[in-house]
Amino acid sequence: MCPLLRPLRLGSLTWATPLLLAPMAGQTDHAFRQVCREQGGLGLATSELVSARALKFPSSRSRTLELFDWRPEEGPVAVQICGAEPEEMADAAREVVQAGAAVVDVNMGCWVPKVARQGGGAGLLRDPERATEVLRAVVKAVEVPVTVKIRAGWDAGSLSAVEIARRAADCGVAGVTVHARHAMQGMSGLADWQIITRVVRAVPEVPVIGNGDVTSPAEARRMLVETGCAGVMIGRAALGSPWVFRRVEHELRTGLPLPEPDRSERATVALHHARKMLLTTRIPASRAIRKLRGQLLPYALDPSGTTDVRDALVRIETPEELMELLTPLTK
Ligand SMILES: Cc1cc2nc3c(=O)[nH]c(=O)nc-3n(C[C@H](O)[C@H](O)[C@H](O)COP(=O)(O)O)c2cc1C
Repeated sequence: MCPLLRPLRLGSLTWATPLLLAPMAGQTDHAFRQVCREQGGLGLATSELVSARALKFPSSRSRTLELFDWRPEEGPVAVQICGAEPEEMADAAREVVQAGAAVVDVNMGCWVPKVARQGGGAGLLRDPERATEVLRAVVKAVEVPVTVKIRAGWDAGSLSAVEIARRAADCGVAGVTVHARHAMQGMSGLADWQIITRVVRAVPEVPVIGNGDVTSPAEARRMLVETGCAGVMIGRAALGSPWVFRRVEHELRTGLPLPEPDRSERATVALHHARKMLLTTRIPASRAIRKLRGQLLPYALDPSGTTDVRDALVRIETPEELMELLTPLTK
């Protein structure tokens, strides 16, 4: 076996490959996670983000429970929770574990003002004491492995990832994921993987997962080699390309590239993704269709230079219209 393809161990759990699907709100629902898994190569997948505060209040609770979509057939899933209050986070952790979460991931990366200004998400990177209290409460609340997903820091002047990771390790987390951008970058600029290397050195007893801008097998290899991280998390490059994990795993294992699927294969997977989503989602059909439009656009089903499929996809209103559009493309 290629030394870079070591299994990933988080606490008591082990995944065959060190390749992880990033949590992505609006994207990483059961159907998409399952399609990635079926394509091969994927280790651990993470759910969409669950707000601990939203779970608490009756007005937002039922909509938040729609996100509890993990099922035994997809194997152990990490469920990401977000919030700034230790007790609320502990309650949320207990609830997702009771519902079957195999790993609880604490979000310390969300930079959107609604979350970060209230102290949650990346806001915790500015408040190491509170970050520690949150992690301590969550680790104490559940028996399953707890991981934390951080960014490089709040802004270029306060790269707190090393300090937060060290504190997280002392709280007993089973893994630390580092998205190598600071919060003020949002998703812009380039990820600077040096921060991943620094965190790997700071917490030698805890597996560190690198994240940020991995779009190809070569980049996954480079991240593993350059930073010494225990796993690579892939987000945007999996959207419309759920086979990315298979391609990375294959190239790491054999040294040989796997070609990208052609257009009809892409359409076949997109159709399967759409069917699975409509069958398994807990959200109402009209919202499911709108969500699917966004999930299916990245499959890039138009021949180059044309936009007919894209133009039709954004106007789809019903499952029947969607099937009529996608089915001929699979031939
Ligand atoms: C649409 C979208 C939604 C995201 N939602 C979350 C989220 O809920 N929680 C989180 O920790 N990160 C979230 N992220 C960040 C990703 O998990 C990941 O850190 C980021 O995309 C960088 O990885 P990449 O370059 O492989 O995409 C989101 C990213 C995208 C593109």
